[in-house]
Amino acid sequence: MTRTVYVNGTYLPETDAKISIFDRGFLMSDAVYEVTSVLDGKLIDFEGHAVRLQRSLDELDIKKPCTKDELLKIHRKLVVINQIEEGLVYLQVTRGSDGDRDFVFPSEDTPPTLVLFTQNKPGLADSPAARKGAKIISIDDIRWGRRDIKTVQLLYPSMGKMMAKKAGCDDAWMIENGYVTEGTSNNAYFVKGNTIVTRPLSNEILHGITRKAVLRMAKEAQMQIDERLFTIEEAREADEAFTTSASAFVMPVVEIDGIQLGNGIPGPIARRLREIYLEESRNTAI
Ligand code: PDD
Repeated sequence: MTRTVYVNGTYLPETDAKISIFDRGFLMSDAVYEVTSVLDGKLIDFEGHAVRLQRSLDELDIKKPCTKDELLKIHRKLVVINQIEEGLVYLQVTRGSDGDRDFVFPSEDTPPTLVLFTQNKPGLADSPAARKGAKIISIDDIRWGRRDIKTVQLLYPSMGKMMAKKAGCDDAWMIENGYVTEGTSNNAYFVKGNTIVTRPLSNEILHGITRKAVLRMAKEAQMQIDERLFTIEEAREADEAFTTSASAFVMPVVEIDGIQLGNGIPGPIARRLREIYLEESRNTAI
């Protein structure tokens, strides 16, 4: 089935969708994005993603392409047209194009570019990968300093995934000044005893929408949370570990740098949090 996608006000087949070669998203990575998951044909935490999108746009002074209600309508329409039961909606806003390449931002009246498409992912919730757990390697974090803004500068995270793949693993956690920042496309946690440890929010990491929901749910379930800097050595000696993201929810981690955590299967806290997250998300999806 050919996907229907959305480009600047028009719904059209993916094969007909076009963006200018001068678009700053293409030339300069001058763009921000959001990924919202879909379960039972409904959007998970749309509000959280819409608020973060606005923040990313504000931080970079990119114009808002349309209202939140219009964005919701577009998300829903694409989910229906493309018959997505489980999957993702990808959204990108760029600073647009004024018809040439220039480091200087285009003139004020240049409209932003808005693109959305869906990704069909049957089995996203009941994922075999989550039942098995992920194997992680650690790599240096050499990204820019404003990781709290969800820009499309994803070359290094993408290279990190490839380094993991080459090492026979699933993903990489990044390390800066001796401390773990986050995963290539997720937030990172370890569990020791009854305590979940994760890095506090700052400009060094993305403020994950799933992170916020999972930490709230963990608190409600009387779990202990310690938001502090942590080293990869601490994580390697943990009882269990996991990551969170809109595309994988709560993903147990079973190995870090070749060292097995616990008995090498997803830990009870990660499995419980995944269950709670999926259940609550389904109940509040719109
Ligand atoms: N990635 N950290 C990074 C670097 C990320 O790219 C992501 C999300 C997260 C988790 O954020 P959230 O819970 O809001 O998805 C943390 C998305 C899923 C992606 O790039 O596909």
